Amino acid sequence: MPKKFRPESGPSDSRAVFRTLTLDRRRFLVLLGGATIATAMPPAFAWAAKASERLPLQPWSLPDLMPAAPHDAVAALVGAAILAPSHWNSQPWRFEHDDGQLRLVLDPARTLPGCDPDLRFAQMSLGAALENMLVAARAWGQQPTVQYLPWGLTSRPGAPLVAATVGWQPTEARRDGALFAAIAARRSNARTYEGRGITITERAALHSQVPEEIRLHWLEDKRGIARAANAVSDAVVASARDSRVRADHQAWLRESDGDARRRGDGVTAERLGYDGPLGWVAERGLRPGGHFRRWSLGWLGHETGELVRASGALALLTAPRRTDSTAIVAGQAYERLALKATSLGLAQQPLSAVTQSEAGRAGIARAFGVGNEEPLLLVRLGHARTVPASPRRAAALVTSWHRA
Ligand SMILES: Cc1cc2nc3c(=O)[nH]c(=O)nc-3n(C[C@H](O)[C@H](O)[C@H](O)COP(=O)(O)O)c2cc1C
Repeated sequence: MPKKFRPESGPSDSRAVFRTLTLDRRRFLVLLGGATIATAMPPAFAWAAKASERLPLQPWSLPDLMPAAPHDAVAALVGAAILAPSHWNSQPWRFEHDDGQLRLVLDPARTLPGCDPDLRFAQMSLGAALENMLVAARAWGQQPTVQYLPWGLTSRPGAPLVAATVGWQPTEARRDGALFAAIAARRSNARTYEGRGITITERAALHSQVPEEIRLHWLEDKRGIARAANAVSDAVVASARDSRVRADHQAWLRESDGDARRRGDGVTAERLGYDGPLGWVAERGLRPGGHFRRWSLGWLGHETGELVRASGALALLTAPRRTDSTAIVAGQAYERLALKATSLGLAQQPLSAVTQSEAGRAGIARAFGVGNEEPLLLVRLGHARTVPASPRRAAALVTSWHRA
């Protein structure tokens, strides 16, 4: 049964009271943190605004038509691909143009061995980039063709993984226009959502984006969402206890938006949903060492659980059968879902910590009642103000040209 829209809860509603208490606690921490931060901030944080060398960044816009010159057309396709989401904004991709085709290649220097030992999230990120490229090609009147894993997963030991080869031919029809328009507007939104439900029409539209190989499971009742929130909270704490995971956090957590723009990648604590002084506490939980780590870890798990609880709905992408290309196809499915959500005016945020380990996957599978399937990615959905775009290294920095 679809959840009915409920008007704003009255003061007698215990959930409303809990929300108010959470807000009060946040305000308290904001006041407390304001004083603490002034003394404890590392100098790099304080002087982050003093930008020095800047990498060329990709603009968050795309041409309406495919550029006529072949070189510009390739650059435009890569430009669409790299606006895709990626695990920790690591952008683990390179693009090789060869004889009229583009190869989408994993950049092994941009993977997270602690958080992503089997490279599933890196492959999903490549899948999301692939999907953007296909959506753009179709919207520009092209018929794209894809060959997945042309050299397989293991056929070239030591060589970088080639996720896919993409070719394109002009056709009469322009397709995927609404998804294309959403490429530059899509954001991973880590704000607290309003808790308002998703309509049955929106839910059907999101479902229709997911291909046959992948399944989308849905939770929208408060008890189900609370079960999933507990699984996420446990997984966040367990994951951040692992020193290899914390080393990845150290490498990809940025001190400010300015720091992220200077490096062209990574995420700030705020972009993960821990804003203001709360971000300072979150940093203590995510980074290695530090006096407050033990305390801030529990707090981090709790806050992440609260973000999940405030969702309008949760979507879990699973694979009934695992194949070599499952993670890539799951990334494509996730990106179509995110683009569709954007075009419907919905906020969405993937939460990967819960599908990172066997224990996390078992916990979230139980919460959704999908014991036999492989959980791939959890996505929370809801309503919230949008967030600013995060930086992308420019197309020219990630493209190599073999034969024109
Ligand atoms: C496979 C995958 C896993 C992700 N996991 C998380 C996550 O656990 N938490 C989160 O806040 N964002 C997650 N993200 C979103 C990225 O942080 C986000 O894409 C990146 O910071 C760029 O920001 P944007 O999506 O707004 O462009 C994930 C994205 C992908 C593709």
